[in-house]
Amino acid sequence: MSAFPATRLRRLRRTDGLRGLVRETRLDLDAFVMPLFACPGEGVVRPLEGLPGIGQRSVDELVREAGELAALGVQALLLFGIPEEKDVEGSGAWEDDGIVQRALRALRSEHPKLVLVTDVCLCEYTSHGHCGVLRDGEVVNDETLELLARTAASHVDAGADAVAPSDMMDGRVGAIRELLPETPIIAYSAKYASAFYGPFREVAESTPQEGDRRGYQLDPANAREALRECELDLDEGADVLMVKPALPYLDVIRAVRESFSCPVAAYNVSGEYAMVKAAAARGYLDERAAALESLTAIKRAGADLVFSYWTKDLARWLG
Ligand code: PBG
Repeated sequence: MSAFPATRLRRLRRTDGLRGLVRETRLDLDAFVMPLFACPGEGVVRPLEGLPGIGQRSVDELVREAGELAALGVQALLLFGIPEEKDVEGSGAWEDDGIVQRALRALRSEHPKLVLVTDVCLCEYTSHGHCGVLRDGEVVNDETLELLARTAASHVDAGADAVAPSDMMDGRVGAIRELLPETPIIAYSAKYASAFYGPFREVAESTPQEGDRRGYQLDPANAREALRECELDLDEGADVLMVKPALPYLDVIRAVRESFSCPVAAYNVSGEYAMVKAAAARGYLDERAAALESLTAIKRAGADLVFSYWTKDLARWLG
């Protein structure tokens, strides 16, 4: 009795109501994190072509935007900073009055309930654009660890609820965990050397001056290695494992989901967003439908939480 004509899967697809009853994956705003970029100045909202609707904002404008997001029901933000000046070390990353630290203090006092997550990395702050200490063209691992830990600690001092190291140095989760025993660490564990970060690097002004990030980020061809990264990050004290980008790596999200019992995050990156935006602007795709399908696919693959530039739109779409 299991084959056609007794079994007809179309029976449950006939109406919206029936489809809703049997839907396996639902989008819930609570699981989404909105990335924002803080820049110096006052009253600054600087739109950037590659990432429509996102752009950079001075701290006052960031606070205003956070208010809009909170009113729409968004629960969590991921903060990036564009410093006034960059230097060889990336000292703007951990300064007490650095751009992210100032943004955190303002957001913390104005919007005490929002979950504030910070991206911990040096690439927006170094003059060379790499994620760590650069010597003779090489990013030096162990010396970078202390700077990353210092950066994470300064974020927590300024009010961050959780830190998200995105640099891909070996041992960085452990170095941060040692300084911050009580802070949730959302580790960018399976972060690939991807072509899909292009628009982000325009917004964050973080394109490496020379070379690329393949010496520290994962090779897109490797999935088993991603599981090793995850295992190490958990051993070092990570609370959440992240896969990034999301759509080209759904198999990795699924593998991480099946291998570990901790929460799994996915980062629906700038290139994934920009592709849909660009196609929609030319009338090739319906943005809302393509975005909802993308986000549903990421959840279906096994992500518990999703970092996405569509979070604000999603709040309106679900609202
Ligand atoms: C910092 C960082 C990057 C992204 C998040 N954190 C850029 C990179 O590694 O080059 C990418 C985010 C996106 O593309 O949306 N290291």
